[in-house]
Amino acid sequence: MSATVTVRVPAKVNVQLAVGAARSDGFHDLANVFLAVGLYDEVTVTAADELRVTCEGPGADQVPLDRTNLAARAAELLAARYGIPPRVHLHIAKGIPVAGGMAGGSADGAGALVACDALWGTQASREELLDICAELGSDVPFSLVGGAALGTGRGEKLQPLEVGGTFHWVFAVADGGLSTPAVYREFDRLTPDAPAPEASPALLEALRTGDTEALAATATNDLQPAALSLFPSLADTLAAGTAAGALAALVSGSGPTTAFLTADAASAHKVADALTASGTCRTARVATSPARGAQVLTPG
Ligand code: C5P
Repeated sequence: MSATVTVRVPAKVNVQLAVGAARSDGFHDLANVFLAVGLYDEVTVTAADELRVTCEGPGADQVPLDRTNLAARAAELLAARYGIPPRVHLHIAKGIPVAGGMAGGSADGAGALVACDALWGTQASREELLDICAELGSDVPFSLVGGAALGTGRGEKLQPLEVGGTFHWVFAVADGGLSTPAVYREFDRLTPDAPAPEASPALLEALRTGDTEALAATATNDLQPAALSLFPSLADTLAAGTAAGALAALVSGSGPTTAFLTADAASAHKVADALTASGTCRTARVATSPARGAQVLTPG
C-alpha cells in the first residue's frame, strides 16, 4: 500500500448509440458502441480524516463535491463491501469536458474505485469492480475497461470489440451543458415507437478493420435529434466541422459536446482550428482513439 494513488481514466465517444423504448424502470435498452478517446481525468486518492472531494481544471466549478459525485459514491461502495471506513481525500483533475456527454463523471467513478482499491489493498476482482461500476451508472463499466466495447442492457453489459487502427477526432465543447435524463425524455417525446436497438454489423466491421471512412459512413446517434431539439445551436457547430472537412459530425452521447471524425492528425488540427474560429463552440480538442481504460499511474 502507498499513501497516495493516482489513476488516469479516458473519455468516451459513442460511435453508435441505438436507443429503444423506455423500460418499466425508466432506463432505455441500448446498443451502445463505446470507443475510449485520449482525453483523460486523473483521480488522486490520499488517506484523510473523512471523505472529501476536490476538483480542478476546466469546468471544475460545475462538479458536485458532495456525496452525489460518482467518485465519492465509488469510495463508499467499495468501503462498504470490505468493512473499511471511506476516509479518503479524492482529488479530481478534469481533462474531460464536464457535463458534455463524454462520460467524465463516470470516468471519475471508475478512477476512484481503482484508486481506492489500490490504496486500501482490497484487491477486488475485475468482476467485483465491474459490479460496483454498474451500480454507479450505465457508462461507468466502460470507463474501467476502455478500448472499444458494445454495451447492451442499459449500456452496462459489455462485450469487448477489436479495433484495427487509430481514429482521429475533434471534440467541440459547447457553452453550457445538457442533462442526460432530459435528453432521454426528449427522445421519448420525439420517438414514440422506437424499435429494439441493434448494433450495426457494418460499423463493427469498420472498427475491426480501422477503416475511418467506413466508420464515418456508419456512425449514428439516436439521441442526436433530442439533443438538437434542446440545444438547437449545436446544428451550427456540426455544420462548421463538416464544412472544415470532417468525415462525420455527430453529437457525443447525450451531448452537448459534438464529435468530428477526421481522416488524419493534420485534418483534425485543421477542423479544430476552424471550429474554434467559427465561434460556434467554447473550445475544440483533438484526440485519438482507442485509449486504455482506468490505469494506475502511481503504483499502490
Ligand atoms: O446510468 P446513469 O446514471 O448514467 O443514467 C443517467 C440517466 O440517463 C438515467 O437516470 C436515465 O434518465 C438516463 N438513461 C436511460 N437509459 C440508459 C442510460 C441512461 O434512460 N440506458
